[in-house]
Amino acid sequence: MTPGEIIENTNLKGDYYKVRFYAPGFAAKARPGMFVHVRIDHRGDQILRRPFSIQLAEGDSLSVVYKVVGKGTAELSRLKPGAVCDLMGPRGRGFSAPPEGYTPVAVSGGYGAAATFMLTRNAGRPGLLLLGARSGADVILTEEYEKAGFEVRIATNDGSVGRKGFVTGLLPELVAERPDEKFFFYGCGPHPMLMALARWLRENGQTGQLSIDHIMCCGVGACFGCVVKVNDPGSETGWKYARSCAEGPVFDLKDVYVE
Ligand SMILES: Cc1cc2nc3c(=O)[nH]c(=O)nc-3n(C[C@H](O)[C@H](O)[C@H](O)COP(=O)(O)OP(=O)(O)OC[C@H]3O[C@@H](n4cnc5c(N)ncnc54)[C@H](O)[C@@H]3O)c2cc1C
Ligand code: FES
Repeated sequence: MTPGEIIENTNLKGDYYKVRFYAPGFAAKARPGMFVHVRIDHRGDQILRRPFSIQLAEGDSLSVVYKVVGKGTAELSRLKPGAVCDLMGPRGRGFSAPPEGYTPVAVSGGYGAAATFMLTRNAGRPGLLLLGARSGADVILTEEYEKAGFEVRIATNDGSVGRKGFVTGLLPELVAERPDEKFFFYGCGPHPMLMALARWLRENGQTGQLSIDHIMCCGVGACFGCVVKVNDPGSETGWKYARSCAEGPVFDLKDVYVE
């Protein structure tokens, strides 16, 4: 097989798909939260690379779970096994293992559940997934988390699955019911969700890391097209720009600039 060759590309539900590539060498380097920059095989004109979190890298294969939102992801969803995409990566700074004695808690929204999935393999102990979604149509990978030993709690905006409301609404209950437990939180999802999560974690003396994804171009730190604000206590403004593709996408909670 050729590196980047699609082994399978299947619809999970609705607009969500899972593609598995032949990608020798990825598994040894991939960590939870890292991404792969994919140039999607395309008949005719070549389109730009698109970044996707590594859902799982094991053996010679690399899996990505993606939602069809535009031209690139629509094209990807039409590719059949045997098509070859150019894979750049693994890229970016991933999530660290939780400190000794801390329970890992992934707080994920939408495709963020794919970005935090490898924590079920690398965190070294079972934890929890708190999953937020607009409705049941965006609830993905819960069975896979459960099979991996993670407890899953869900919140949907419309209440069609799990608790009605935002995923951050699940946090007070978790810490209240386990007062003697220490948690390390891992966030990945839409920006407003991450900002609400960062605020709550700080106000409640919790610790963790957040993946601040941003639309990307080069993916290697050269174009500055992906900058996000991070705390810079020594500067006049209190913040500076960091390239999400190179210095992130995962940042420690203390560095996350909350707007
Ligand atoms: C580090 C990282 C990891 C990612 N992991 C995943 C993943 O695991 N699964 C997944 O489905 N998607 C993931 N994304 C988002 C994914 O890269 C975009 O959905 C994809 O590039 C859209 O390409 P497109 O050509 O289909 O859409 P386009 O035609 O380029 O855009 C369609 C719409 O999507 C919006 N969009 C494009 N990129 C982003 C982005 N990064 N964040 C928010 N909105 C965006 C555009 O503004 C536009 O409204 C990730 C993004 C980053 C930066
Ligand atoms: S995408 Fe070019 S610097 Fe990050």
